[in-house]
Amino acid sequence: MTTRKPRVLATRHFPPDVEARLTSNFDAVLNPEDRLFDGPSLAKASDGCDGIMCAAGDPLNAETIAALPASVRMIATFSVGYEHVDVGAAARRKILVSNTPDVLTDATADIAMLCLLGAARRAHEGAAMLRTHQWVGWSPTQLMGVHVTGKRLGILGMGRIGQAMADRARAFRMTIHYSNRNRLPHDLEKGAIFHADPEAMLPHCDFLSINAPMTSTTRKWVNAERIARLPKGAVVVNTARGGVVDDDALIAALKSGHLASAGIDVFDGEPKIHQGYYGLENAFLLPHMGSATVETRNAMGFKALDNLEAYLLKEQSPPDLVRASS
Ligand code: DGY
Repeated sequence: MTTRKPRVLATRHFPPDVEARLTSNFDAVLNPEDRLFDGPSLAKASDGCDGIMCAAGDPLNAETIAALPASVRMIATFSVGYEHVDVGAAARRKILVSNTPDVLTDATADIAMLCLLGAARRAHEGAAMLRTHQWVGWSPTQLMGVHVTGKRLGILGMGRIGQAMADRARAFRMTIHYSNRNRLPHDLEKGAIFHADPEAMLPHCDFLSINAPMTSTTRKWVNAERIARLPKGAVVVNTARGGVVDDDALIAALKSGHLASAGIDVFDGEPKIHQGYYGLENAFLLPHMGSATVETRNAMGFKALDNLEAYLLKEQSPPDLVRASS
């Protein structure tokens, strides 16, 4: 008797080594063209599937989850963030959800530091000047940016990525301030200054790095009033989720000069980003590439597969189970 391999839909084209393992262990439905699914087409493509391996941006909202076939028992997202999956709606249908924590901490913190430095030191303006043959030579006043070493960095959200960002910033002798739901134990805090009230942290931030997940509490948290509490000339860095920032407010502050610059890797509504960003010279912009290294993307894929294999092949609880918040 042959036992059927569980069928898993890959909503995106994943790295080759990840797809090789997916294909070897499951009856995989791949998406080699990396076509973007909308909710109804995702539900349709899941026909007969036991599991779905999805990614950031896939519309696994309550409506899509309601439309999934009864065969679907698990959704494994190839991401640490899972705001694109309605975990409560999945729980109501007894569909398990897993994510990929830990493995993208360093890559994302590296990009956060790159955004901080790029924004502060006007790296994109320098690169553009050179590549468009506009550079006429060194000048004492050319492309003067914001000094980084020794400044104060405020971190909103001191989870794994926030802590890794702090470690990098310490190498620049930055003073670390942070705000988090819970204060870190002394050994993890490493001298960082805790602010129970995130609003109270803002006046202490020459740099503000957003490392908090997108939730109903953090949605558009960085708004005009809070930006006004940052010192004049501050730099805002966002490598978490675009929705945490009110784009109109950030763009206005970059235009007025209240903020010196911003380094941004994630955007609300991406890839259709707020048009206002395109015209801003003082915005260092990247296309959501925090986890984009070969090693990290493989590790994310293998983690998603560890979870799918645990549940669909071994009938065990997925190690990175995400629970619906009560
Ligand atoms: C994540 O894992 O949440 C990232 O943003 C996707 O790269």
